[in-house]
Parts: sequence; structure tokens; C-alpha cells
Amino acid sequence: MRLKGKSALITGSARGIGRAFAEAYVREGATVAIADINLEAARKTAAEIGDHAYALKLDVTDQASIDAAVKAVESRTGGLDILINNAALFDLAPIVEISRASYEKLFSVNVAGTLFMLQAASRSMIARGKGGRIINMASQAGRRGEPLVAVYCATKAAVISLTQSAGLDLIKHGINVNGIAPGVVDSDMWDEVDALFAKYENRPKGEKKRLVGEGVPYGRMGKPEDLAGMAVFLASDEAEYIVAQTYNVDGGQWMS
Ligand SMILES: NC(=O)c1ccc[n+]([C@@H]2O[C@H](COP(=O)([O-])OP(=O)(O)OC[C@H]3O[C@@H](n4cnc5c(N)ncnc54)[C@H](O)[C@@H]3O)[C@@H](O)[C@H]2O)c1
Repeated sequence: MRLKGKSALITGSARGIGRAFAEAYVREGATVAIADINLEAARKTAAEIGDHAYALKLDVTDQASIDAAVKAVESRTGGLDILINNAALFDLAPIVEISRASYEKLFSVNVAGTLFMLQAASRSMIARGKGGRIINMASQAGRRGEPLVAVYCATKAAVISLTQSAGLDLIKHGINVNGIAPGVVDSDMWDEVDALFAKYENRPKGEKKRLVGEGVPYGRMGKPEDLAGMAVFLASDEAEYIVAQTYNVDGGQWMS
């Protein structure tokens, strides 16, 4: 067990990749807060994972909600060891159709949500004096732009940059901040992505998803579980000397 006795909070872990992380962390001995804006789904997921998972209502765009979630973890487990900033939203539109509302929503969840969760978690970790681990979910979308995906790509480039700055600032407190950049992962989010591509590229539903899967060098889309090994490793003692990096876990999609 590589995370025995550790206390983790994973944002947006009621489903998808976050849920796969929570399952892997519990298998490795951690206790995990399934922290999601959808409390009902978080409760169901926590109950399915078992005794070492518990649900928390969290909206990463709301500072009071962030502070309450960190406090809840402290009082339940004695202190926070690991944060995964996983909650994010996707949207898609040509440049000439991007709305200010979509821009503000995505930056609020994906970028401000990551920064202010990271801030609250690191304040708690510094006060406790035992260091910690923070993992930010970036994306291959943060490595380069895409014609229809300007805003989401920009949010994920910002996550990679925040990971570098926070990593460099917080390592003096024994807090390692790193990131994971998935490629294309078969989750509920990708079903929503596929529906948007169908609309803007005039395709039948499911076609874009099939094509992107065929384009992955490994030969298929990722599954949420494919990301879990990296998330466990970055939180484990083996990753002690890794600082401010973002790792591609994408079946060979991107090299950097
Ligand atoms: N699926 C992919 O292909 C893919 C690729 C690259 C990167 N990623 C990244 O991986 C992470 C997880 O992706 P996923 O596909 O599992 O997403 P998902 O949409 O399936 O799950 C996201 C979760 O976040 C929660 N959430 C949304 N807004 C929230 C808020 N304001 N506060 C708290 N929780 C909130 C949702 O309720 C949901 O449970 C995201 O950061 C995403 O950008 C995904």
C-alpha cells in the first residue's frame, strides 16, 4: 500500500477520471473525500467505493465552499495530505461564436477553481507542517490550441503554468505540486464533447469519438483507470524529488 493512512481530497470525483483516482487511492490505503458539486452523485460514489471514501459538497468557484471542504477534511481525518484538482468543464465554439459567459464559466472552474483550491490546501498543509502533494489535471489541450476549443485549451495551458509557479513556490514547505495531462479519455465528459463536435462539424453522434480513438498511437481512447497509476505515483514517496512537472499520460498523443 503506497498511500497508507493518507488523507486525500479529489475535486470532481463523483464520476469519470476523479472517481477512478478515488478508487485507486482507497486501494492504496488512503481515505478520500469525494468532493463534487453534485452531492447526490458524490454520496452514491462514496458508498460504492466503501468505508474509506466519504462525500463532500464542493463548488470550486465558491471560496466559502472551498474553505469549508478543507476544514471538513481536517476535522474528519486530522489533516490533508493530498489534493487532486480534477473538476473541470468543457465547451466548444468557433472563435466568432465564443460567449463571454462560456469563457467566464470555464476560467472560473478550470483555472480559478484550481488556484484557490490549491491555495486553501497549501495553507492547511503549511499550518500542519507535514508537507503534502498537489496534483492538477491539465490536458493535451493545454499543450497546443485547437480551432474550436480555444477557451478550454487556454484554461488547461493556464493549469500547466500554475503547476509550474505553485510547484516552485511551495516545495520549500515540502509540498510537491505536479500535473497530469491526459489525451482523450472515454468519460461522460467526452460524450458531451462528442455531441458538441457533432453540432459544429456536422457529424453523426459518436463519429468524432471513434475517430479520435483511432488516432491515438496506442490504438484506443484512454479509460479513466489508465490515469490512476500516475496519480498514485505522484502522491507516493517515490515521487518526492519531482517538482512542478506535468506528465503526459495519453497513449502517445503528445511528446514534451
Ligand atoms: N475526458 C477527457 O478526455 C479528458 C482529457 C484531458 C483532460 N481531462 C481532464 O480530466 C479531469 C476529469 O475529466 P472527466 O472526463 O472525468 O470529467 P467529468 O466531466 O466526467 O467529471 C467532472 C466532475 O467535476 C464535477 N464538477 C463540475 N463543476 C464543478 C465545480 N464547480 N465544483 C466541483 N465539482 C465540479 C462534475 O460534477 C463531475 O463529477 C478534468 O480536469 C478534465 O479537464 C479529461
